[in-house]
Amino acid sequence: MKNYVIAALSGVALIVSSQVMAADVEAGKSKAAEVCASCHGADGNSPAPNFPKIGGQHRTYIEKALKDYKSGSRNDPIMAGMAASLSAADIENLAFYYSSQSGSLNSHK
Ligand code: HEC
Repeated sequence: MKNYVIAALSGVALIVSSQVMAADVEAGKSKAAEVCASCHGADGNSPAPNFPKIGGQHRTYIEKALKDYKSGSRNDPIMAGMAASLSAADIENLAFYYSSQSGSLNSHK
């Protein structure tokens, strides 16, 4: 009985921690609308050629780009300012959101 209770409780702990770890696509969406959409578009398909399309880009690529702008290992004056105010969770959520959009990245338009 005791073992059963312990097993059940650790099962609950696992579920709770995996929910905390998961990126929050809704939080990413609202952050994107607030901060990024003016340049990259709400779904990451920027209409302007001087702002890269990031909709449908790989999640790990977006995440790495944002971390690199933040650390300065990738240098762009505009994105450095954008990334500076993002938390690690913001970066994860934004990468999750934009990578989940269908991008026109491969259409060569
Ligand atoms: C004022 C316009 C502007 C805003 C707002 C902006 N960006 Fe950018 N972003 C740029 C420009 C310009 C570049 C290209 C910089 C470069 O050459 O490295 C870029 C590059 C990127 C890249 C790299 C794309 C690639 O193909 O390598 C990512 C990812 C990105 N932005 C995400 C974001 C996110 C997420 C936000 C919101 C937090 C955001 N940007 C807000 C202008 C903007």
